[in-house]
Amino acid sequence: MEVKTSLLDNMIGVGDMVLLEPLSEDTFIENLKKRFDHNEIYTYIGSVVISMNPYKSLPIYTAEKVEEYRNRNFYELSPHIYALADEAYRSLRDQDKDQCILITGESGAGKTEASKFVMSYVAAVCGKGQEVNKVKEQLLQSNPVLEAFGNAKTVRNDNSSRFGKYMDIEFDFKGDPIGGVISNYLLEKSRVVKQTRGERNFHVFYQLLSGASDDLLKKLKLDRDFSKYNYLSLDSATVNGLDDAASFRTVRNAMQIVGFMEDEVQSILELVAAVLKLGNIEFKPESRVNGFDESRVKDKNDLKEMCELLGIEQSVLERAFSFRTVEAKMEKVSTTLNVAQAYYARDALAKNLYSRLFSWLVNRINESIKAQTKKPKKVMGVLDIYGFEIFEDNSFEQFIINYCNEKLQQIFIELTLREEQEEYVREGIEWTNIEYFNNAIICDLIENNKNGILAMLDEECLRPGTVTDETFLDKLNTVCAEHQHFESRQSKNSKFLTDHSLPHNCFRIQHYAGKVLYRAEGFVDKNNDLLYRDLSQAMYKANHSLMKLLFPEGNPAKVNLKRPPTAGFQFKASVGTLMKNLLTKNPNYIRCIKPNDKKAAHIFTDSLVCHQVRYLGLMENVRVRRAGYAFRQAYESCLERYKMLCKQTWPHWRGPAREGVKVLLTGLQVHAEEFAYGRSKIFIRNPRTLFFLEEKRRQCLEDLAALIQKIYRGWKCRTHFLLMKKSQVVVSAWYRRFAQQKKYQNIRCSALVVQSFIRGWKARKLLRELKHKKRCEQAVTTISAFWHGTQARRELKRLKEEARRKHAIAVIWAYWLGLKVRREYRKFFRANAGKKIYDFTIQRIMQKYFLGLKKTMPSMSPIDKSWPARPYGFLDETHKELRRVFHLWRCKKYRSQFTEEKKATYEEKLAASELFKDKKALYPSSVGQPFKGDYVEITKNPKYQKLNSLAEDRVLLADVVSKINRANGKGAPRIFLLTKKSLVLADQKTGQVKASVPLLDLSSVSVSTQNDGFFALKLKEGAVSAAKGDFLLSSDRLIEIITKLHRTGAASADRNQIKIDISDEFLVQFKQDKVCVKFIQGTPKNGNSVACKRKNNRLLEVSVPSP
Ligand SMILES: Nc1ncnc2c1ncn2[C@@H]1O[C@H](COP(=O)(O)OP(=O)(O)O)[C@@H](O)[C@H]1O
Ligand SMILES: [Mg+2]
Repeated sequence: MEVKTSLLDNMIGVGDMVLLEPLSEDTFIENLKKRFDHNEIYTYIGSVVISMNPYKSLPIYTAEKVEEYRNRNFYELSPHIYALADEAYRSLRDQDKDQCILITGESGAGKTEASKFVMSYVAAVCGKGQEVNKVKEQLLQSNPVLEAFGNAKTVRNDNSSRFGKYMDIEFDFKGDPIGGVISNYLLEKSRVVKQTRGERNFHVFYQLLSGASDDLLKKLKLDRDFSKYNYLSLDSATVNGLDDAASFRTVRNAMQIVGFMEDEVQSILELVAAVLKLGNIEFKPESRVNGFDESRVKDKNDLKEMCELLGIEQSVLERAFSFRTVEAKMEKVSTTLNVAQAYYARDALAKNLYSRLFSWLVNRINESIKAQTKKPKKVMGVLDIYGFEIFEDNSFEQFIINYCNEKLQQIFIELTLREEQEEYVREGIEWTNIEYFNNAIICDLIENNKNGILAMLDEECLRPGTVTDETFLDKLNTVCAEHQHFESRQSKNSKFLTDHSLPHNCFRIQHYAGKVLYRAEGFVDKNNDLLYRDLSQAMYKANHSLMKLLFPEGNPAKVNLKRPPTAGFQFKASVGTLMKNLLTKNPNYIRCIKPNDKKAAHIFTDSLVCHQVRYLGLMENVRVRRAGYAFRQAYESCLERYKMLCKQTWPHWRGPAREGVKVLLTGLQVHAEEFAYGRSKIFIRNPRTLFFLEEKRRQCLEDLAALIQKIYRGWKCRTHFLLMKKSQVVVSAWYRRFAQQKKYQNIRCSALVVQSFIRGWKARKLLRELKHKKRCEQAVTTISAFWHGTQARRELKRLKEEARRKHAIAVIWAYWLGLKVRREYRKFFRANAGKKIYDFTIQRIMQKYFLGLKKTMPSMSPIDKSWPARPYGFLDETHKELRRVFHLWRCKKYRSQFTEEKKATYEEKLAASELFKDKKALYPSSVGQPFKGDYVEITKNPKYQKLNSLAEDRVLLADVVSKINRANGKGAPRIFLLTKKSLVLADQKTGQVKASVPLLDLSSVSVSTQNDGFFALKLKEGAVSAAKGDFLLSSDRLIEIITKLHRTGAASADRNQIKIDISDEFLVQFKQDKVCVKFIQGTPKNGNSVACKRKNNRLLEVSVPSP
């Protein structure tokens, strides 16, 4: 939020002299002093800014300050040069009015500084951008260059501008700077060759000598020591607060920014060096035959170096310093120069060289900074011209300078005072005339074409015959004597005859700013500004890039016999142009006042300030302001600007603008004294009233802005809302579509599910039906098949029955037929014939039967069971009997072939069968094995001789058996020898008898029912051989062994047959102990072998593999 301030806030004294109460010179100065003491160096008189030089830097030119003053009303903040610059810039930019800023004041009052502040402010607030910034930079950087060449230290100002400068800054329609034009006025060139005490030559000389590198100095043939150069005053060669070396660098940099080429800079510095060298050239007289002295260059070294620098032929220049050629009427007359003339010529050359270089510099800068476009431009001119000067010794320069200031004052008067009053009259506003001093009369004294001082001077200069400053003064004395502002001792005005303050060789002019005494000496020369043609021609011939440009009149091809215009004439003309230029623009005034003569801060010398206030006409300024109206404006623009403040005028006023303004002001209840209605303008007396209007307008604009904003916002919201609504409709439409789609899909899915279920159900139902139907069809088929079967069978049965019946019928028929035949034919047979036929028939049948049987008889093998079928039922018995008989016969036949031995073998086999068939599982495997008896060939083996001898008669059986060890159930091989009377167990290897048991001692033999070869030989208790107990043996040929053992009993008469026990559990007597041998069905894991294990002392377990 912008803080609203006013000029009146925190005011020290009064910020605007118009508000001063009471108004007098004293109060005016008192106010200035008071403000000055508080560092308020700026004060207004209406829109004019009074600026006091503070001689110290103040913190009021910062970037923040620039921002503070930017776009603010002139009277809104405390007085500042920025306020004026802002006002000027804004009215240039916004109202398209060309502006000029006129900065006036004495030398050292702060004009140049003020002009820089204005320029820097404008640069800061105007547009930005690469191109614009470049232009700004160039415009700003032109200052240091011009100051180096055009400023010097004077007694009044350490950095005094020794030339007048007017700079037009050009802007485009947006207010962006696009270029500029600088005009320079009358450089004080006399300073080049001579400076008064306490002053210096132009800065650039000192800067060059202090700041240039050794290299550069050598190139320029210069020495760093100031004292080596005649043209440089020594007593103030260095100035406090001025660093020449640093400034030199700044200037070089500025030149680069402005756009100087390196070789251009070099050329410029060569010229500067040449001027210094020129100053060192000295002359000596040389007597001539005609009695006149002729000047000669004393020491040619400097001359030589200067010629080298500028590329001039030394002899040509040397001659130009000794001779002078005067051309008249096609004749050339050469006269010698005396020493004084030679020095004059030298200085004239130096001054011309320097001033022309300066002008060239300004043109060169203009070339760089000129606007690149031809489009219409807006212009802001800044005029910083040397101030009014009153020295002890005032010469032609001061006269010219003061003339210029007179002209500026004239403009000020023209525009502020007279213009204003005339405007009131023109506008028909009641107006009390204010007396003010119009300096037009002084201007006239100087510039009048007929009898003005400048005209007189020119006349003198052009007049043939001897012309001196005295003749010029005489002329003035006669022509201007009557003028009330001209004073001279010798004028006809007796008033001054006794005035001793007025020397004889001087004249005095009462300038608007005070009386100035001018010494006539030098006026003619300076006005002539004469440079001998020989010199200008010598310069033109120089082999240097700049010289031909600087001395065009030296061109021999363009010899102009006409005199060049005098300095006074030229100046008058350029001032005239400047004034015309200024009059086309809207003026803004900065009136600079210096507070003291000592260039010191904090000192306020009343008398000095009072003097300046007087001659600047500030009091008149205030009075006019106060008597008149602070502000005026055409009715149209006023109405246009404030019409929003009143209902009748807003938004359009149909009637004449004047009436509109009246309505407006009445409506606003502005005090009637505060304004006056002119013919075309409204005049507002007090700035306050204007502020009031402005403030109202601002508020109103705010309201209007708010209204516009409101309507705009409403519109924006509405459009936004409508858009949203539209979007919402679209969105909801889409959403609904989406939702409906989704719903539809759901329903569809469900329908599909239901459908599928129904279809499934239907299909299943159909399937069921079809299956039922199929089953029915099958059943029908089956039933019909059965039915057909039944029918067929029935039919078959019937047919069979029928066939049987037919057969029976046939048999019966046959029988009956036989019977019938027999009956019929009985009579023809004998009584026994029937019997005979029958017998015969039987015989025939029997015959046929036996013959058939003979053919189909089975083989002779007793085991062949085949037998042919019986052909007739009645032969059944016979047939069977025949079969039995045939078999017996066949067996008899078979047996009859047997030997005795084979018969015995079969008997044994038969015995074995009786003993074991269907009782022991081992038996079937033994059927096919023939019983060999001696398996170890005991008769043939010599080892068993003893055994053989034991079997005195016959060996029934000899085989290897296992004797089971009662301790562990393992078997040990033994030869088992059975004879008719005993059995022997012997060692298998040696044949040594281990045990011999008479068969009589054997009570029984125990075997199992299973498929094993274990057998126990039980001995009769008490028998001798029973001492060691029973034998438990095992043999694969168990059946044969036992059978043979059993049959021994049958053969012998003295003992019973040995009893055979077949049981799966039996007791065996081992010595004292009875051990039970138990047979169990073995598990497959025991393998196929019979395993015997001792379970405990009383039990031996034999596991037998299952068959
Ligand atoms: N506003 C200011 N603030 C500080 N110093 C200033 C100001 N104006 C002028 N000066 C001082 O006064 C000196 C002279 O000012 P200058 O502008 O060169 O005077 P003029 O151009 O009127 O001869 C400057 O060198 C500077 O030291
Ligand atoms: Mg200046």
